[in-house]
Amino acid sequence: MGKIVLSLLLFAYMVFSMKITVVTDIDYPPFAYIDQEGKLVGISPKLWELFSERTGVEIELIPMKWEDAIKAAREGKTDVIDLIFVTEERKKFLDYSIEIYKLTSSIYYREGLPALKTLRDLTPYVVGVKRGDALYGIAKNSNPSIQFRFYDTYGELFLAMKNHEVEVILMDDVPAQYYLQKFDMVYNVKKSEPFTENNLHWAVPKGKDHVLTLVNKGLEKISPKEIKSIVLSMVPHARIDPSVIFTLFLVISGLIAAFLFFFIISFYLKRAVQKAAKELEYKNQQLSAYNEELEAQSEEIKAMNEELERTLSELERASNNFIGTLDLIDRAFNLQEDGKTFLKKAFNLIFDMFPQSHCGYIALFEQGTLQVIEARGFDKDSINALQIPSGELYKPDVPIIVKDIRSIESKSMNEKNYAQIEEILPKSCCAMVTPMKIVDQTVGNIVLEVKDCSEKTFTEHDLKMAESLEKIVTSFFLVRRYIDVKEKINREIVSMLVKTLEYYDKYTQGHSERVAQLCRKMAQRIGLPEPELELAALLHDVGKIYVPQSILNKEGHLSDHEFEFVKEHPVKGFELVLAIKGMEKIAKVILYHHERYDGKGYPAGLKGAEIPLESQIIFISDSFDAMTTARPYRKIPLRVEEAIREIRRCSGTQFDPNLVKIFEEIIYEQSDMSRFV
Ligand SMILES: [Fe+2]
Ligand SMILES: [Fe+2]
Repeated sequence: MGKIVLSLLLFAYMVFSMKITVVTDIDYPPFAYIDQEGKLVGISPKLWELFSERTGVEIELIPMKWEDAIKAAREGKTDVIDLIFVTEERKKFLDYSIEIYKLTSSIYYREGLPALKTLRDLTPYVVGVKRGDALYGIAKNSNPSIQFRFYDTYGELFLAMKNHEVEVILMDDVPAQYYLQKFDMVYNVKKSEPFTENNLHWAVPKGKDHVLTLVNKGLEKISPKEIKSIVLSMVPHARIDPSVIFTLFLVISGLIAAFLFFFIISFYLKRAVQKAAKELEYKNQQLSAYNEELEAQSEEIKAMNEELERTLSELERASNNFIGTLDLIDRAFNLQEDGKTFLKKAFNLIFDMFPQSHCGYIALFEQGTLQVIEARGFDKDSINALQIPSGELYKPDVPIIVKDIRSIESKSMNEKNYAQIEEILPKSCCAMVTPMKIVDQTVGNIVLEVKDCSEKTFTEHDLKMAESLEKIVTSFFLVRRYIDVKEKINREIVSMLVKTLEYYDKYTQGHSERVAQLCRKMAQRIGLPEPELELAALLHDVGKIYVPQSILNKEGHLSDHEFEFVKEHPVKGFELVLAIKGMEKIAKVILYHHERYDGKGYPAGLKGAEIPLESQIIFISDSFDAMTTARPYRKIPLRVEEAIREIRRCSGTQFDPNLVKIFEEIIYEQSDMSRFV
């Protein structure tokens, strides 16, 4: 109780006396240090000054070596010791104020040493510390192996590191920063991570509780913000490494140069681009003009192509029509062609030549009625079944194009017939009717019809074409008629010659006809033209007209002289028939009809294949008929089998063995006989 009263009295005394003494480190920048003018400056003087302002207490701030300051505090020779860490040792003789500022401490070592991260890394080194510094105790406790060297102040400590007395020191970070810059060692010294963090306090020697009370009350009147503001105003700012500045300078210069470079380049590029753009625009305009020109040319080429295609198509059609026409001409003069077959083929060729046709027919007016030979687009048998009288049909004199053929037909045709025609034939809008005429007689019509007149119909050109085709078709009829007439005349002549010969030589009566009949059968079997061989056979002995009748009809054997006359009949027959135009080949067959296979015949003595086949056939047939009929030199004829035996005996001498075999077969068939030996 007495102690408390004493403290209060002292506190009152101090407040009223208005003065306390404070010892501080003389070299603890930026907290407290002596400036160039010898004046104590730093954070502490300012802080104490503020304290004095707020409390009205006068402060006597006494700077001294830190070790001395601690000694003064230990001995109670000061009221307060400035800015001090708490240690167990110090607690024994000091009472601490509330905390003022938090401070970290680190290892500082010269550049070139291996990285020192913790206090344990310091064993190999002599480590510099400030005498009385709390860091000594902290380091010693952490690593007892550290060897220390002591210095009175941080200034001396840093100087020792600068002078290589020690390579490693322990310092609070804020003062260390101050000295790094002061001694220009920022880039020669490295720093570890802080190995400790402590609060700075003001401390009062034990027994001076009233001072502690005063100090704490004063501190409560100073806000942490104010303390921080004072500290920040005094803490030196970090200097920038000149090499960094140089690097920055280089970088910035480079950037400026690059900017200028790109600016200039972009300027020229912009100009170049603008120039190129103008040129491009000009080129584009030119290209557009070229394009328009090309498009126009393309259109022209397209039109020309279409025209060419049309021309080619027409040429192709004309070519096909030409080939068709040639084929038609060929057929018209082909004597083997049957009349109706020719008309069918002719119509199909014509129909295909006019592709616009959708139906049509070719018809003959036979026996007074319409006979449709071939039709396309409808059934011809239905029309033929109607038996329409040819007089009812439309028969123009020349090829013609008519618009409405049904209407024309309706006027001339029986009503019933017309009604049926309308049902069978498709509808028609246009027709091309081509009459087929022989001399002045119309023998038939070729009719082509178009269903839809909105498409292609018939033209004048088509009409001329149809006219030409009709002439080819009627040529066929004319040729046939001419041939028929010619053949008829020839047959009349031949008949007359044969009758003359039979009248002249009574033994040849029926001989020529029978030989001709056998020859026709041989021709059929072998595949030779029958009419020619038959004609030659009928006339083979016509030369006998020139042989005296007394010789021809002589009974008994002929003398050699007489036989010489008889042997001339093939040559005479040849000469006679050769005079008839168109029978030259037949004359030649007659000339050799007594030649023998072994070359011993007459008149030329030809041998084997030298003898015309037709002549050999007549020879074998002639011999057979002579043997099987009565003759002046042999009143009783041979029987058929005897004659065949004789023919067979002469095979290879008089007759070709192959012909003999065929001839035998024909005789067997004709005589209804079985083969005999
Ligand atoms: Fe003869
Ligand atoms: Fe004969």
